Amino acid sequence: MLTEVRVFAPATVANMICGFDILGFALEEPGDEVIMRKTSSPGVIITKITGDDGRLPLDADKNTVSACVQFLLQHLGLQHDVGVEIELHKHMPIGSGLGSSAASTVAGLYAINKMLGDPLSKEELLPFCVEGERLACGHGHADNVAPSLFGGITLIRGNDPLDLIPLPVPQELIASVVFPQVDVPTRDARQLIKEKVFLKDAVTQWGNIAGLVAGLFKEDYDLIARSMQDVLIEPTRAILIPQFYEMKKIALENGALSFGISGSGPSVVAITKDRDKARHITDLIQAHLSVSEIESFGYVSAVNVEGPKVLN
Ligand code: HSE
Repeated sequence: MLTEVRVFAPATVANMICGFDILGFALEEPGDEVIMRKTSSPGVIITKITGDDGRLPLDADKNTVSACVQFLLQHLGLQHDVGVEIELHKHMPIGSGLGSSAASTVAGLYAINKMLGDPLSKEELLPFCVEGERLACGHGHADNVAPSLFGGITLIRGNDPLDLIPLPVPQELIASVVFPQVDVPTRDARQLIKEKVFLKDAVTQWGNIAGLVAGLFKEDYDLIARSMQDVLIEPTRAILIPQFYEMKKIALENGALSFGISGSGPSVVAITKDRDKARHITDLIQAHLSVSEIESFGYVSAVNVEGPKVLN
């Protein structure tokens, strides 16, 4: 067993605007970091968490990362033999819609697997990551953890059993992501959504999802742009996001292919095929938010095709 490992796992844009709970992609930045060290006595402890404003529990049974590491050790029958201490460094806000809990969980599980000499494949790690999501927000969706763990763009065709399909990543696709600093917990953002939808809206949405998948395969940016539209969830969740429609107008008027909510929000994402354009859109949206006295973070990122990595 290794004595120490330092792992980064990326933030993610779940849903990819039209694919609620079934599509997501990984970002180059931000991401969370876990430092894991072997201890002389068995058990899992958290020694330090930074970047969470004191919001995450240090109690190893309650913290999602340590709880998932414990599940993994139990699964391998090692809970009485292996001891680790965990430092969690959060480099993105909690409740941001950037897969914050997912990045931490993936970093923790990837780290323990590395420490133990990779006994599990990524496919085998995935259900433990999904369990982390269930602990964090009450629902085990995989559209953050899967892209964070595998990198790239992933389609979750089914959840039971998990059926994951990696999709092609168009070379020029660049995301402009802005997090307006208001807190929208995923749990709340999920409770808001209507349980039932109109068939005509469902038809529009699954047309868009199919169009997006085809667009990714064909690297057809016009088709991607036409398809990345959400008629089901966005109208409801946009209410939680200050200046949502103003930000959308800015993005689309300045060359974004599409614009929508990242995950459960409040982060928003504009898809472009040009890094300068993405930077410009990010700056314009952030300037607009600051006029309304809303603080924000902005990120410009291609799709991260690597997923988690060891940082030593
Ligand atoms: N698909 C999930 C949702 C992602 O939209 O609630 C949460 O980040």
